[in-house]
Amino acid sequence: MRKNIVAGNWKMNKNFADAEALMIQLLEYKKNNTTNCEVYIAPPALYLTTAKDIFKNGEVEVFAQDVSEYQSGAYTGEISVEMINSIGIDGSLVSHSERRQYHGETDSHANRKVKALLDAGLTPIYCNGETLEQRKAGQHFEVVKNQTEVALFTLSADEIKKVVIAYEPVWAIGTGETATPEQAQEIHAHIRSLIAAKYGQEVADEISILYGGSVKPDNAKEIFSQPDIDGGLIGGAALKIEDFSKIIEGFNP
Ligand code: PGA
Repeated sequence: MRKNIVAGNWKMNKNFADAEALMIQLLEYKKNNTTNCEVYIAPPALYLTTAKDIFKNGEVEVFAQDVSEYQSGAYTGEISVEMINSIGIDGSLVSHSERRQYHGETDSHANRKVKALLDAGLTPIYCNGETLEQRKAGQHFEVVKNQTEVALFTLSADEIKKVVIAYEPVWAIGTGETATPEQAQEIHAHIRSLIAAKYGQEVADEISILYGGSVKPDNAKEIFSQPDIDGGLIGGAALKIEDFSKIIEGFNP
């Protein structure tokens, strides 16, 4: 059975003291509550070691927000898969739309980063999704199909099973505008059917597909109740324990 996951993407937010305080609040929350999903966070890279220390018993899995596709060498400012692996990090986001928008990332980069993470035994959370123009032009199914194929379809069945996919329509990220549960569900079902056509239904059924884009405490439960939505990648609402914990509780009966 595939996992339900609520993952917080902290982006470029919080100084060290505030980041540490939020991690401690999240640890307390995890100790005092039973959750019906896995909880992940992707804090800024600078705080990954601290996060691993705080969540030393694996209460929350810790992810990088990006990794280099290269192994090592003259890539100033980059962080390698081996580096995050050597401090016990569980995986990384790959090709978040902000990496695509501001750093020119494409699905070919995503493909190499996903493979590098899998080769090291780490979990990629591969992000895709259409822009507003593409949705208005009715191209969203086609765009997501191309993205998924280029980024993931060179993987073996055993490899793709270990990837977490996050569908994040660009027009819904940080805008307060959420895809309706039906709009999200139909793309999630589409992604799962593409994987089923290539790798078989059994493989497709094992892959967690998260929705991202203005998930909030008041819409999480309805979004998570869709059959092909296995959780969320949360930006703004992951920065406050009150909001993030309520989103986690979207999986409570
Ligand atoms: P948001 O961001 O929840 O602030 O819309 C989601 C994301 O970018 O992962």
